[in-house]
Amino acid sequence: MGVGIIGLGKYVPAKKVTNVELEKFVDTDDEWIRTRTGIEARHFAADDEDTSDLAIHAAKEALQQAALSAEQIDMVIVATVTPDQAFPSVANIVQDAIGAKNAASMDMSAACTGFMYGLVTAQQFVQTGAYNNVLVIGVEKLSKVLDFENRNTAVLFGDGASAAIVSNVAEGRGFLAFDLGSDGSGGKHLFLNDQRHIEMNGREVFKFAVRTMGESALRVIEKAGLQKEDVDYLIPHQANIRIMDAARTRLGLPEEKMSKTIHLYGNTSAASIGLSLYDDVASGKIKDGDKLVLVGFGGGLTWGAILLIWGK
Ligand code: UT7
Repeated sequence: MGVGIIGLGKYVPAKKVTNVELEKFVDTDDEWIRTRTGIEARHFAADDEDTSDLAIHAAKEALQQAALSAEQIDMVIVATVTPDQAFPSVANIVQDAIGAKNAASMDMSAACTGFMYGLVTAQQFVQTGAYNNVLVIGVEKLSKVLDFENRNTAVLFGDGASAAIVSNVAEGRGFLAFDLGSDGSGGKHLFLNDQRHIEMNGREVFKFAVRTMGESALRVIEKAGLQKEDVDYLIPHQANIRIMDAARTRLGLPEEKMSKTIHLYGNTSAASIGLSLYDDVASGKIKDGDKLVLVGFGGGLTWGAILLIWGK
C-alpha cells in the first residue's frame, strides 16, 4: 500500500481585491504588480472571519471528498504563521469545530513551506501505521499582518485555506519521496516585525527562492529514483511568477505543465500549494497516475519538495 491524499478542500474569503482596487490605498499600480509578480487579485477575509474560520471551511470539504466522518480523523495538523492567537492552536479550534473528537491536534510553523512540512509529517504517522487519517490544513489570514503603508509587501499577499487528508492509498499511488530543509541564518530576510507586520528583503528572498526551488525539486526527483522527464506536473509555491518559471525551466517543463493560480489569489503562504493542487485536480489538469512535484520555500528560511503520484 502507498500513503497519499484521499480528499482535498479549499476556501477563499468572499472579498476579492484586484490590483486596481489596491491602488486606492497603496502607492502602487496594476501594471507593476502584474509584470513583476503575476498577481492580478487576492482575497481578504472579513474582520469577523479569523484564520480558524477559513480552515474549518476547507477541512469540512476535505472530509466530504474523502467520504470520512470527523471521528475517523486521528490527527489535525495546521500549517500557519497567522494563527488566531498563540494558543489554543488553530488546529485545536478546528478539531473542536468539526467534531474530530478522536484526533490529536497541533499547529506547525514553517511559513510558506508549512503545507509541505505538514504533508510530510502526516505521511510519517500513516506510514508507520500509528494513524489512519491525518487532516493537514495550510491556512493564512495574511491581511492582518500586512502594512498597507509598505508597498514592498502589501501588494503580494492574500488570505485562504487548503486542506488534504493523508491516508493509505493503492500500491503505485501516493508519496514517493520528500526533501525538507531550512537555513535559519536567512531568517532576517523575511519576518514579522515588532509592529506585527511582514517585513521582507524581496531581492534576497527572490535569489534564495530561485536557487532553492530548483535544487529541492531536482533532489526529490533523484530521491524518488526518477528523471526530470518523468515529471508530469509541477506545483510550485505561488509567490512570484518569475520564481515559479525559473523552477519550471530547471525541470525543462512547458508552461502548461505548471500550476498557476497566483493571478487569482496572490501569495497565500501555507495555503498556496494546496489551493493550486485543489484547483488543478478540480479542472482535470491533474489526472490519476500523474507524477507531481510539489515545491515550496518561505520564511525561516525554509524549503520543501514532495514527489507524489496522484490518485488513491
Ligand atoms: O512566500 C515568500 C514571500 N516572498 C517572496 O516570494 C518575494 C520574493 N521577491 C519578489 O518576488 C520580488 O523581489 C518583489 C516582487 C518583492 C520585488 O520585485 P523586484 O523586481 O525585486 O523589485 P525591487 O524591489 O527591486 O523594486 C524595483 C522598483 C523600485 O523602484 P526604483 O527604486 O527602481 O525606483 C521599487 O520602489 O519597483 C518599486 N516598487 C514598486 N512599485 C510599484 C516596489 N514595490 C512596488 C509596488 N508598486 N508595489
